[in-house]
Amino acid sequence: MSEEETNTPGRRYLRIKICVNYRAGDLLPSCGANDSRELAAALKEEIAKRDDFITLEPVHCLGKCHIGPTLKLLPSGPFLQGAKVEDAAKIAALLQAESYEELMRQFPDPAAFETVQTKP
Ligand code: FES
Repeated sequence: MSEEETNTPGRRYLRIKICVNYRAGDLLPSCGANDSRELAAALKEEIAKRDDFITLEPVHCLGKCHIGPTLKLLPSGPFLQGAKVEDAAKIAALLQAESYEELMRQFPDPAAFETVQTKP
């Protein structure tokens, strides 16, 4: 989907991907095993209540399987990690308000944190 196809032009982030990959068993972690499919459904509802101001895009793996559910803001936005189903309304509200710093504080990506912490 191109940026022009969004319902709300002018916003910093126009899409949010959510990984719904599910791997059964305990050998490999996955977002699906941490309820990302349920989170995706709840988030879809919350975004719909807010006139679909952002496009939710379920995908299969964003490369951060061990700390999911994994969400990614686009274009070129941060990852959001570790949200629970009960966080869906809060995430939608913060997205709608464009409170991205608060989203990153509440659902931090450890890799981004480590990068910031290790800079001289
Ligand atoms: S299984 Fe979700 S990021 Fe890989």
